[in-house]
Amino acid sequence: MTPSSTSGSVDARRELISGLLAARAHTSPKYLYDRLGSRLFEAITELPEYYPTRTEAAIFDAHLIDIARAIGDIDTLVDLGAGNCAKALRLIPALCPARYVAVDISADFLGDAIAEVQRQFPTLEVNGLGLDFSASPELPDGSLRGRPVFFYPGSSIGNFTPAQAQHFLAEVRRQAAGGGLLIGVDLIKPLDVLEPAYDDALGVTAAFNLNLLRHLNHLIGADFNPREWRHVAFFNRTDSRIEMHLEARDALTVSWPGGERRFAAGERLHTENSYKYSVESFSALLRDAGFERSEHWVDERGWFAVFWAQG
Ligand code: AVI
Repeated sequence: MTPSSTSGSVDARRELISGLLAARAHTSPKYLYDRLGSRLFEAITELPEYYPTRTEAAIFDAHLIDIARAIGDIDTLVDLGAGNCAKALRLIPALCPARYVAVDISADFLGDAIAEVQRQFPTLEVNGLGLDFSASPELPDGSLRGRPVFFYPGSSIGNFTPAQAQHFLAEVRRQAAGGGLLIGVDLIKPLDVLEPAYDDALGVTAAFNLNLLRHLNHLIGADFNPREWRHVAFFNRTDSRIEMHLEARDALTVSWPGGERRFAAGERLHTENSYKYSVESFSALLRDAGFERSEHWVDERGWFAVFWAQG
């Protein structure tokens, strides 16, 4: 395959190849989400082991009135990482925004989802933006009006390093002036709950991780063979994060136009971190990002938290 027949942008290609050639090979977790990856992630959220989606939904069900009261009147609800918009569909009747702006890296995925939001709420002004807010955290002029509330559910913040998370939060705070941020955060919990959530019995998370290799083949014209790799996920206590890796089953060489990387048997490609916080450590992160006030709600097992941050 020649470079011109691959589909990655020049920047993505450069970033991916430099990660593959690093002493510890790594890729950004955003590359887990091609069309199939987004579908596999949706399937993950239905697995019995993957507690975050269900637990966050239970917090919203139990505390929606309090959360809406804390937030007060809003003009624009900005949903960062909207996906299928299912979470916002639950919030909209309680928050009653005048406008809903759904932002997602995959514009493909958004079209049907925002049509459904518009069908359910015919008087709501609905807009979709296909952009990677984490890479360029600036919404186009005119997207925000009045008192904006940014919504970042699902503990996606956990896929940033704490330093990146602080930068991201500070940027959201600047754009949410006069409004605030409603954000879901996964909490530290026992290993026997955490690890199966990222290594489920059906192997859906393994498929989600291995699918990255197909996506890389498409983006940079590489020749990864997913059968030669195994999914590895574990909790790194020191850094308070789940790490996902792909591990070479045997010694192998991966090639792409203009380069190659040799992997020894057992050598890994680091594909994702998912940081877990305590209520205290996340409150401190919000403060460090400039939010002056925050309040939070947790489920009864203390597994997940929803924060409302302002100021
Ligand atoms: C999207 N993100 C919050 C998920 C997580 O839990 O870190 C991605 C994921 N990776 C494996 N399972 C789910």
